[in-house]
Amino acid sequence: MSFRTQPLPPARLNRCQLFGPGSRESLFEKMAKSAADVINLDLEDSVAPDDKDRARANVIQAIGDIDWGDKTLSVRINGLDTPFWYRDVVDLLEQAGERLDQIMIPKAGNAGDIYAVDALATAVERAKGRTKPINFEVIIESAAGICHVEEIAASSPRMQAISLGAADFAASMGMATTGIGGTQENYYMIREGQKYWPDPWHWAQTAIVAACRTHGLLPVDGPFGDFSDSDGFVAQARRSATLGMVGKWAIHPSQVALANEVFSPSESAVTEAREILAAMEKAKAEGAGATVYKGRLVDIASIKQAEVIVRQAELIAG
Ligand code: COA
Ligand code: MG
Repeated sequence: MSFRTQPLPPARLNRCQLFGPGSRESLFEKMAKSAADVINLDLEDSVAPDDKDRARANVIQAIGDIDWGDKTLSVRINGLDTPFWYRDVVDLLEQAGERLDQIMIPKAGNAGDIYAVDALATAVERAKGRTKPINFEVIIESAAGICHVEEIAASSPRMQAISLGAADFAASMGMATTGIGGTQENYYMIREGQKYWPDPWHWAQTAIVAACRTHGLLPVDGPFGDFSDSDGFVAQARRSATLGMVGKWAIHPSQVALANEVFSPSESAVTEAREILAAMEKAKAEGAGATVYKGRLVDIASIKQAEVIVRQAELIAG
């Protein structure tokens, strides 16, 4: 173990991030009333190029007008390969007020991309006397992004979270699919004549989780496009949770409750985690570093595993 201890991620819930196009203002109130922990108002790929100015103005208006409760409020800006992004940053930070918590930077390719947005955000904040520094979340959705994920995670003290964006990622990697996340028909193995379908997103997810955990950020699974397939969504979300991700996007309101359910530890998991902590307290008092719980080994590493679950349960309990 390095002498540097692993930083904890921001102590806030991020089980579900609900997206809505910035050009569809009729959705904003519904998004605010949803059970999502994070709201992402989108200026990027769900908004047509001719609608960018109107969407930006809508979003700025809505940030001030709507009661967003205690949700984390984020706006996805346009990518650095477009002519739109600088205006997004400048107008949001000059006009949207301090209720805005976060800017989401899509298609990040390297740490320099984040540095550029940081430099611009810092200048606008100083010029405007903004007292609450804006946070950043980033989408890894390109070959360059996944190659540089660690430097991106380390790129700015504003960084809070990284998501995997499956659709753009698949396109950038040249993957033979038009699906957004989930099982891929042609990605199978055969054993004794039986097909089974491994997870093609697995390695990119674990790379993101490792970079986030190293630098104290929240790793998040991105969109699942087929919003009629709740079983597929839940299967994808459970795999992500098992790998260490803390939440998943919803691109339709029907996905919010599913994500909240998967990324909230069950009552029995919390009870078991507390029992493991108690068993280890007892072992410690008896001078032991390991003990037996329900017929299996638990030791000092089990304390850390149990604490992950208990910490999440405490955040949910508020
Ligand atoms: N947030 C909140 N409410 C939403 C919503 C959203 N993202 N999308 C739809 N709704 C509402 C609808 O207004 C409708 O409400 P009503 O019952 O009061 O009429 C209800 O949920 C059912 O909507 P439905 O008819 O099934 O969906 P739709 O055809 O209106 O929209 C999408 C479907 C996919 C186009 C829409 O959900 C959407 O734009 N999602 C987000 C896309 C996005 O932001 N992408 C960028 C990230 S990948
Ligand atoms: Mg994308």
